[in-house]
Amino acid sequence: MERDDKIELTRRLIAHVDNNTTDYADTLLRVPFAVFNDPELAERERQVVRKFPHIVAHVDELVKTGDFLTTELIGTPLLVVKQSDGSVKAFSNVCRHRGAKVEFAESGCKRVFSCPYHNWAYGKDGALRGMPHSEGFDGMDRSEYGLVEFPCEVRHGLIWVVPTVGADLDIAAVLGPKHDAEVAATGMAESYQVRKETWRLEMNWKIAVDGVQDSYHLCQLHTKTVCNYLQGNITAFDLVDRSWRIVVARKSITEVRDADPDSFDVRDYSLANYTVYPGTMLVTEPNHFEIWTIVPDTEDPNVSYCTIRLLSPTKPETPREVRILEKNWELLMETLHAEDWFVTKTITDNAANGQVDELIYGRNELPGQVFHKMITDDAVRLVEPAGAGSNR
Ligand code: FES
Ligand SMILES: [Fe+2]
Repeated sequence: MERDDKIELTRRLIAHVDNNTTDYADTLLRVPFAVFNDPELAERERQVVRKFPHIVAHVDELVKTGDFLTTELIGTPLLVVKQSDGSVKAFSNVCRHRGAKVEFAESGCKRVFSCPYHNWAYGKDGALRGMPHSEGFDGMDRSEYGLVEFPCEVRHGLIWVVPTVGADLDIAAVLGPKHDAEVAATGMAESYQVRKETWRLEMNWKIAVDGVQDSYHLCQLHTKTVCNYLQGNITAFDLVDRSWRIVVARKSITEVRDADPDSFDVRDYSLANYTVYPGTMLVTEPNHFEIWTIVPDTEDPNVSYCTIRLLSPTKPETPREVRILEKNWELLMETLHAEDWFVTKTITDNAANGQVDELIYGRNELPGQVFHKMITDDAVRLVEPAGAGSNR
């Protein structure tokens, strides 16, 4: 982080602690409860979510040439493959012959991907290499029948994909030069993946995203856990187009009130969440990173999927380093399951049965306000009228 930015951010957070304030929105935001369970809106949002980047892997998951993984992103089956030049490509895992799934394994290493139905064979670059009884396909230009390729980029040690052919993908541009440089300076690109887990959540995807954006609840819901080291309702919020940085002050931040600005790193006294709209959060702490990917289900507005990756800036070598990372994961699991999700899943039932029409996001819930306004706007602006753009 630039020296001036560091000084400004530290002052801003300490002023908020002193005054018991935070960065505010101009007004309250009222949102209809139906945004969480309206099936028509859910379909429009899925169309929006498919237009933006998501993380499909950490670089540790694809090491050698030919290493691959299969996954699914908002209904699109993906085959992600490490190339000979070190780059990574993402393909639709759908055969160009008659549409069968090409690769069934979750991961592995291959030079050729052969569709099980009639054995059409694709190279790791997605090109169609051959098919049995090829004389039956005289007149077909093989070069036009490679696997369909999606935009894919490796940035900050993470593999990003947009499941829409021809979409823009430039994570540095999305983060903006300042925040991109800050993430780069954390060493995330050289990080080591310690844990990765995916959960099916019985809640709308925006409820899950809200939870990661929300510092208001830190010292209300998490009195015995997170509140021990983070300040509740004290954040600095900075928006760059479709990404934003939320910096939450640690309890310890007041220790550097009078310190020489060159003698400390503000990262040690805060937690920064770089959110890449719509569902990716890069949460950076001094000794580990949490990478969140949240996406909607393809059918049910009340179901979503959340993947969390725990990364370490370096490979843990000593038993103590391993233990510290394990403890971080355990604390996260405890707060998530027993506190966050235990409470937020009740919103799902209440949306259907609670006789409450409208929810309210306070001026102090600025990140949530920005997120809800953006998705509400995009679900109208970026989606074609019902029937014209829907693939259902
Ligand atoms: S469907 Fe894949 S080879 Fe026929
Ligand atoms: Fe929480």
